[in-house]
Amino acid sequence: MWDYTDKVLELFYNPQNQGEIAEVSEPGVKVATGEVGSIACGDALRLHLKVEVESDKILDARFQTFGCTSAIASSSALTEMVKGLTLDEALKVSNKDIADYLGGLPEAKMHCSVMGQEALEAAIYNYRGIPLDSHDDDDEGALVCSCFGISESKIRRVILENNLTDAEQVTNYVKAGGGCGSCLANIDDIIKSVRQEATAPDLNNYGVKVATEIVTSKERSLTNVQKIALIQKVLDEEVRPVLIADGGDVELYDVEGDRVKVVLQGACGSCSSSTATLKIAIEARLQDRVSKNLVVEAV
Ligand code: FES
Repeated sequence: MWDYTDKVLELFYNPQNQGEIAEVSEPGVKVATGEVGSIACGDALRLHLKVEVESDKILDARFQTFGCTSAIASSSALTEMVKGLTLDEALKVSNKDIADYLGGLPEAKMHCSVMGQEALEAAIYNYRGIPLDSHDDDDEGALVCSCFGISESKIRRVILENNLTDAEQVTNYVKAGGGCGSCLANIDDIIKSVRQEATAPDLNNYGVKVATEIVTSKERSLTNVQKIALIQKVLDEEVRPVLIADGGDVELYDVEGDRVKVVLQGACGSCSSSTATLKIAIEARLQDRVSKNLVVEAV
């Protein structure tokens, strides 16, 4: 018998927001849907978000989940947590936040919280019109666990976000290693590599915590290589999804000192308000995240 918290049991026996949100006819409101897992693997979650287009605010959230006690409770918790948030705020909800909301989950059930976070991401990227296989870093890394189709970047991310230290924990969070076991040695190597990178001062592709630390440590100066990498990361993760949702896009062309040269594409390139787009959506974001001295120019 699993040792569930009272909150998990409460949301399992009396789940909040179960069901779907049908397409709405209300003006200014749209429905976003994200789906992860598969019934064949034992868990599947379909998340529905009702979004106010102008404010990007989540007005309602509902779920349909096939799974165990903790899968139902995690899904229900997620829907409670995201109601009232903007999509950008919701993207910051981590699997750890979901588990914390529940007062904790048995470690062997942490994959249920990961499934919730992934469904949320999938719904928001679907809403923004970004193909999942183009935004999802998880699809870009080499496949590590063929039994469960888990890539290296997904394993790296869950290690970093949850401070995991051994392969058994990784199995509990994303199932990798829980089948034939032939990938366990690779998972051990990835854990070592991630932990080394997390303690190194350099910005790296996977070091979410390291990158965040650099962004928030105003007193630490970036090398030029770090600055360019961070600008690219902010553009890819925080700016481009917004522009793409509006039919535009932006590409980093060059960085000279504090001058960031970009190419506006699609609707942004021909839009009469492209200057405002540059100043507000791109320059302000880069000043906030990278350096207040940055100036963005279109080329
Ligand atoms: S390849 Fe990972 S468990 Fe089989």
